Amino acid sequence: MSDGSSFYITTPIFYVNDVPHIGHAYTEVAADVLARWHRQAGDDTWLLTGTDEHGQKILRTATANGTTPKEWADRLVSTEWLPLLKTIDIANDDFIRTTDVRHEQNVQRFLQKLYDDGYIYAGEYEALYCVGCEEFKPQSEIIDGTGEYEGQKVCAIHSKPLELLQEKNYFFRMSQFADALLALYEENPEFVQPESARNEVVSFVRQGLSDLSISRSSFDWGIKVPWDESHVVYVWFDALLNYVTAVGYGQDDENFARRWPATHIVGKDILRFHAVIWPAMLLAAGLDVPHRVFGHGWLLVGGEKMSKSKLTGIAPTQITDTFGSDAFRYYFMRAISFGQDGSFSWEDLAARYQAELANGFGNLASRVIAMVTRYFEGVVPPAGRYEEADLAVQATITDATAAADAAIEKLAIHDALSAIWTIVDELNGYITAQEPWSLAKDETQRERLSTVLYTASEGLRALAVLLSPVVPVATLKLWQALGAEDELGALDEQPIRSAGDWGQLPAGTTVNGLEALFPRIDADAVPGA
Ligand code: MSP
Repeated sequence: MSDGSSFYITTPIFYVNDVPHIGHAYTEVAADVLARWHRQAGDDTWLLTGTDEHGQKILRTATANGTTPKEWADRLVSTEWLPLLKTIDIANDDFIRTTDVRHEQNVQRFLQKLYDDGYIYAGEYEALYCVGCEEFKPQSEIIDGTGEYEGQKVCAIHSKPLELLQEKNYFFRMSQFADALLALYEENPEFVQPESARNEVVSFVRQGLSDLSISRSSFDWGIKVPWDESHVVYVWFDALLNYVTAVGYGQDDENFARRWPATHIVGKDILRFHAVIWPAMLLAAGLDVPHRVFGHGWLLVGGEKMSKSKLTGIAPTQITDTFGSDAFRYYFMRAISFGQDGSFSWEDLAARYQAELANGFGNLASRVIAMVTRYFEGVVPPAGRYEEADLAVQATITDATAAADAAIEKLAIHDALSAIWTIVDELNGYITAQEPWSLAKDETQRERLSTVLYTASEGLRALAVLLSPVVPVATLKLWQALGAEDELGALDEQPIRSAGDWGQLPAGTTVNGLEALFPRIDADAVPGA
C-alpha cells in the first residue's frame, strides 16, 4: 500500500448490555495498533469504533434494571465504554452509537432502497432465537441443555435456552447472493482472513443461503421500518450498517467515497455476519464490499471463551491498574498469534512484562541514556568510522522495519512485534559485546565510544518510532528523553516505513533523564498470580 492511500479500519460495535472485559479490549487494541501504524505511515487513516444499542438483549437488561433502554445505553456508554478507550489508549477517529440520528436515518434510507429494488418481502417465520447472539440459530448451533436446562434446546455459544419465535417478518432475499459471494471469496482470497476463517465461510455458503429475517414486531426498541412502523429493524442488520453510516453513506458522498471500503476486525464468533450477511447487503445496495474481514481468536479462561455471562470476564482495569496500558497492549499483541485463540494468564503477563518490557526494552533505554549522560555530558556524540558490529545493528534495523511493515500489511501483528524485537535483542547484545564502560576508561578509545553510543542512541530512535503504535506511552517518554522531539518533531509523525533509514538522530542532540519505562512490579500486586 503506498503512502497516502486510504486505510479505514473498524472494530465491532459493542453491546451495551454489560461492562467491557479484556476480550472486548483485545479487539480494540488490535485495530488501534493497525490504525496507528498506518497513520504513522502517512496513509489516510480512519479508525471507527462504537456501540450497538438496539435489540431485545439491551431492552431486557434495561427493563431488569428499572430504566429505559436509551437511558441505560447513555449510562453504559459514558461510565463504561468511552472510559474503556482511555484505559487502553485507543486513538479512534470516531465513535458511533446506533442511536445516533446520522445512523438511524441512513439505515432507513438503505432499507428503503432495498425495498424499492425488490430485495425485501413480507413473510411468516417460526424459528429458535438466541437473545445472547441476537440470532435465529441454525440447526448446527443448537444443542441439548444440561443441568438446570436439561430437556431444553440451548445455544451452543451461550448455553442458555433458545426461544421459539413465531411472527410476521420482513425478509431480505439473501439466498440470491450465494453465487456472487462464492465468486467474491474465489476472486479475492484475502477477503476473509485468516485462512481457517475463510474455509469455514466458504463451506457455509456452499450449502446455500436462506433469506434473512430483518424485522421484528414483538417489541419496539429499534429503528422503525420506514414503510411499516409496526416493525423495527433486526438488530444485526441495523448494527452492520454502522460501518457505512459513520463515514457518510446517504448524506456525505464525498466522505463516503474517500473512506469506504473498510478493513473489519471482528471476533470469530461474529465472522459470519461480517463475511456473509454484510457483503450480501452491500451487493444488494450496489455498494462495494469491504476490503477485508479479519476474524481473530478468543481469549480463553480455563479453556473456554472468556465471557461476562459465564462469569469469567476480567475487567481491563484489573490489568492496567497494575501494569499500565502499554503492557496491556504489548502483552496481548505479542503473546497471541493474531487470528488464533489464546489463554490469558497472570503469570505469563507478569513474566513477559519483566523479561521483555522491563529487562529487554526498558533497561536498554535507561542504560543508553545514562551512558550518554555520563560519558558525553548528555549530548549524543557523532559516529566515527563504522565497524562490522555497528553495520550489523544498522542491517537489523533496516530488515526489521521492512519485515514489520510486511507483517502489518498481512495483519500479523505478533510477527511485526517479533521482527521489531530483533532490534531490542541486537542492541542488548551489541552493548554487552562493545562494553562502552570499558571503552570509557581508555582515552584512546574515545572515538570508538562515540560511535558505539551514537549507534545505540540511533537504534533507540528507530525503536521508539517502530514501537509507538503498540506502546505509545513508553515510547513518548523515550522520545523526549532522547531529545528527539526538538530535532525531529512529534513521535507520532515520524514516517514509520522509513524508520530503518540510518542516521536520523542528529549528533549533538541533548538527552534528558529517563525514569524507568517499565517499573518493577511487586509480585503481591499481581492479582491471581
Ligand atoms: N454487537 C455485536 C457486534 C456488532 S458489529 C456490527 C457484538 N458485540 S459484543 O459486545 O458481544 O462483542 C464485541 C466483540 O468482542 C466481538 O468481536 C467479540 O468477538 C469480542 N469478544 C467478546 N468476547 C471475547 C473473548 N473472550 N475473546 C476475544 N474477543 C471476544 O458481538
